[in-house]
Amino acid sequence: MSLPSSTVSSLLQILSQPALIFLSVWYYSFRALVGIPITLFWQLLLSIHSLGSKTRIEREDERKVQFFDGIVTHVRKLPMRRSFRYPLRMALVNLSNPPTWWRKKQANLHLNANEIWERTREDVPSFVKEKDVSIHLLTSPMSFGYHQNPISVYYVVLNETGECLVNVTEVTNTPWGETVRMNFNSSKGSVQNRKGMAEPLGAHVPKSLHVSPFMDMESNWRIFASDMPTVSKHLKLTVDCVEHPEYGDFFHAAFVAKRDESDTRGARNDCGGLRLLYRRGLSPHRIAYWIYHQAILLLWKEKATFYGPPGLDEIRKLTNEKKMHCKVSSVVRVGGGCPARIAWQPAKSWPWQT
Ligand SMILES: *[C@@H]1O[C@H](CO)[C@@H](O)[C@H](O)[C@H]1NC(C)=O
Ligand SMILES: *[C@@H]1O[C@H](CO)[C@@H](O)[C@H](O)[C@H]1NC(C)=O
Ligand SMILES: *[C@@H]1O[C@H](CO)[C@@H](O)[C@H](O)[C@H]1NC(C)=O
Ligand SMILES: *[C@@H]1O[C@H](CO)[C@@H](O)[C@H](O)[C@H]1NC(C)=O
Repeated sequence: MSLPSSTVSSLLQILSQPALIFLSVWYYSFRALVGIPITLFWQLLLSIHSLGSKTRIEREDERKVQFFDGIVTHVRKLPMRRSFRYPLRMALVNLSNPPTWWRKKQANLHLNANEIWERTREDVPSFVKEKDVSIHLLTSPMSFGYHQNPISVYYVVLNETGECLVNVTEVTNTPWGETVRMNFNSSKGSVQNRKGMAEPLGAHVPKSLHVSPFMDMESNWRIFASDMPTVSKHLKLTVDCVEHPEYGDFFHAAFVAKRDESDTRGARNDCGGLRLLYRRGLSPHRIAYWIYHQAILLLWKEKATFYGPPGLDEIRKLTNEKKMHCKVSSVVRVGGGCPARIAWQPAKSWPWQT
């Protein structure tokens, strides 16, 4: 007896999902298992070697990169209640004049200053020219070949005042590593929330990626990023999932941080001596731990629904159906910043690359 080939292929598709997930978890765990001890040992050697001399601490010019140390909070209210927090130190890289480590290792994973200028130039006031702005990216730097950045933000900053003209967000899903980028404009106003407290408005944009495979595509995002990133002592970035037909405003994520002005201000987390290494070293590995730890809890304890296998076609379709791209939508009016210029990028690395 022979099965029709369509059944075989759909069977294969269904089977390949858990297999791929299993393989990738195995692959990343292996990398972490091998990488972390080697890295720690190496760093320990380096740090012991440089104790006293202090010259080993990386000292990048603050015009090239600045660091913000803070806390990431995740709160999900429905259909299950879950929350967690972890510390994170992120870099604000000046893409118009990036440090050498950026050029060597990470630049090709993100857009460069020219590409950001190309996608925002029509949205800034016409008297602003390319020479008047510098482009900055808030992201968690790669650590020993591994990077993990659910959300990064590009800021188009007016050199003279430090004011941010447009922001572009770059959201990447786990575990596939697919990316979506969109312009947004978080307005400066605020609204009163139910408890009567002032809440920043933020930009409403269509949810354009699952991000967490445990969330469907129904809601919209409200993104807020504080202004004057290169000047202000404090930095805040929040993403909410709002307007879900069933759960309403059900998810909140935030990064609230202070500029690092200490001795280690110019150093990446793994290159600022032992104390910083202990507190914030191997950040991408730590983020991955939090993400996968939560995923396992969600699967085992909550029996959460798993959405979003890799592949962007369906996601494009669902996003376009929301028709939130421009002024016609009442939701976009709230500091939306139009047009969002949503652009997707498929997975770059094994095993999701197609
Ligand atoms: C970023 O680099 C550009 C080009 O060197 C420079 O003009 C600008 O002042 C830098 N921005 C900051 C905030 O240091
Ligand atoms: C502003 O930044 C750009 C790089 O983006 C740089 O070429 C230019 O010289 C800067 N202008 C001033 C006034 O610092
Ligand atoms: C985003 O841009 C708007 C202006 O277009 C600004 O008011 C807001 O503070 C910016 N947010 C960030 C991330 O700087
Ligand atoms: C960003 O928002 C401000 C006020 O909220 C508005 O004046 C400006 O035109 C907006 N910019 C874009 C690119 O939408």
